[in-house]
Amino acid sequence: MCGIVGYTGPKQAYPVILKGLKRLEYRGYDSSGVALLNNSSLNVYKKKGKVAELEEFLIGKNVEANIGIGHTRWATHGEPSDRNAHPHTSANGKLAMIHNGIIENYAQIKTELVKNGYSFTSDTDTEVLLNFIEYIQTNNSCSLEEALRIALKRVTGAYCILLIEAASPDTIIAARKGSPLVIGIGKGEHFLASDASPIIEYTKEVVYVNDYELAIVKPDELILKNLGNETITPYVTKLDMELSAIEKGGYDHFMLKEIFEQPSTIYDCLRGRLDAAAGTITMAGVQLNIEQLKNANRIMILACGTSWHAGLVAEYIIEELCRIPVEVEYASEFRYRNPIVNPGDVIIAISQSGETADTLVALNKAKEDGAFIFGVVNAVGSSIARISHAGAYTHAGPEIGVASTKAFTGQLAVLMMVALKIAIEKGTITQERYTHLLNELNDVPEKVDAILKNSEELKTIAEAYKDASDFLFLGRGYNFPIALEGALKLKEISYIHAEGYPAAEMKHGPIALVDENLPVVFVATKDSYHEKIVSNMQEIKARRGKIISIITDGDTISPELSNHYFSIPTADELIAPILTVIPLQLLSYYTGVAKGIDVDKPRNLAKSVTVE
Ligand code: F6R
Repeated sequence: MCGIVGYTGPKQAYPVILKGLKRLEYRGYDSSGVALLNNSSLNVYKKKGKVAELEEFLIGKNVEANIGIGHTRWATHGEPSDRNAHPHTSANGKLAMIHNGIIENYAQIKTELVKNGYSFTSDTDTEVLLNFIEYIQTNNSCSLEEALRIALKRVTGAYCILLIEAASPDTIIAARKGSPLVIGIGKGEHFLASDASPIIEYTKEVVYVNDYELAIVKPDELILKNLGNETITPYVTKLDMELSAIEKGGYDHFMLKEIFEQPSTIYDCLRGRLDAAAGTITMAGVQLNIEQLKNANRIMILACGTSWHAGLVAEYIIEELCRIPVEVEYASEFRYRNPIVNPGDVIIAISQSGETADTLVALNKAKEDGAFIFGVVNAVGSSIARISHAGAYTHAGPEIGVASTKAFTGQLAVLMMVALKIAIEKGTITQERYTHLLNELNDVPEKVDAILKNSEELKTIAEAYKDASDFLFLGRGYNFPIALEGALKLKEISYIHAEGYPAAEMKHGPIALVDENLPVVFVATKDSYHEKIVSNMQEIKARRGKIISIITDGDTISPELSNHYFSIPTADELIAPILTVIPLQLLSYYTGVAKGIDVDKPRNLAKSVTVE
């Protein structure tokens, strides 16, 4: 949700910033811009559209500078346009600023500024904050740093901001609360960005800035302070990521690359944890807190979107294996509905980015209420990972395609291991079943590989239904959340309206939609619900709906009822969701591509949703 990049050092700033913005485009792509400072001359360029349009616009322009800031936007206040694009310039023309987040009390501050003679050229909250900083600086004759500190004490909302000033031609001032900021430490140079992807090719030494911290960044100096003006020692970490992880590597899209990476990302997730031969699962985050986890009165899972779907699968699995009641909540709803959280409750937070504002805010609330937070997070060092009491990373590597794929299967693998570990410690699973499920989980990477080998079949199915206006996705039991996920994926990247439903619930309403034009995707693998879902297929067939089914190898009944089917290897029903989701990811991908949609950057979406 908005990407920001900054550079100060001996290099030309513009190429570094441009490349960084391209890497961060998954965070927003409705407009972009740069502010470049050459001695004390400040040049600001911005353009509606993707970063490529900014790049073209800047051909032949003066981009000479060793310091600069750049932004790629996901609109919150004000429609996507040149004038609402960042960076914004203050009224006196001396300051330029970029911002990721939302200033919630901007209207009140704007009214004060208007009374003091300010007018605005954009509809953004960012321009309000910038002019507020300028106003404080002018009225108090103080430094920019001091003015920023005073301004931030008045601000409510979320921000990561980078500020430059014509009078300080080598300094970037940054601050964060609620939106991420990483600073890369080079030799006589510093890089600032929303995540490590713009930094990785220059340095692996980084500092993750915390909420309510301010950074004063010069080529050879990095000073961190809190809002009380006390200096903080920066904690330098080493990035554990290679450049190749954030490049397309020959695939047409990041989404396709990430779908095809799943055999290895799931393997990486299991590696060092699951030892099927020895019959063990090693997860320090679970082991160290096993009493808390196995004695939980209740587990509440908080997440959004695809991660919420992983939570629904986990609900079924944890209740089945651990016999602990589980509730799965949309984080955004949890936050505002005065929920009951007791000290014996465990919260599992699931997030790919680790920065989703709805989830973060909900977790802060639960933490205040005394809950124990266990994070299942993909982005290492992210805010959710850091506020959790314990957790387990999914180790799926950077996910760049806006639609989440490999992070989801990583979440399912981690949650399965967590459930198995609690169950064996609690004694709610037999040794035999435990060993069986360990072996089943161990076989997943190979089975995913086998599914991917038949991906062309899904391309054909996608071509056949790409012009449909609606889709229905149905599943039962462990595959019900996968039906929801299939529908979400299709909506996101093909813009086809799709609904996911429990297959049995379909007859209580959605069946009215069924006619010969409606494709209905059944997630109908061989499990304890199979006979029932076959009856549901009959019900759709009787109404001439078009049936696409995801079935288990060797099933002879479902193909007879289906217009198209895709077979996956046999798996235990608790493990099946990690497999059944793969063909649905591919179906959505190929449908989006067949419709000419930029599947890595579908309209209106952004990856890391850092606004509430
Ligand atoms: C869907 C998708 C979103 C995210 C949601 C939560 O493909 O990517 O629905 O799952 O925004 O994001 P995280 O997992 O980063 O908290």
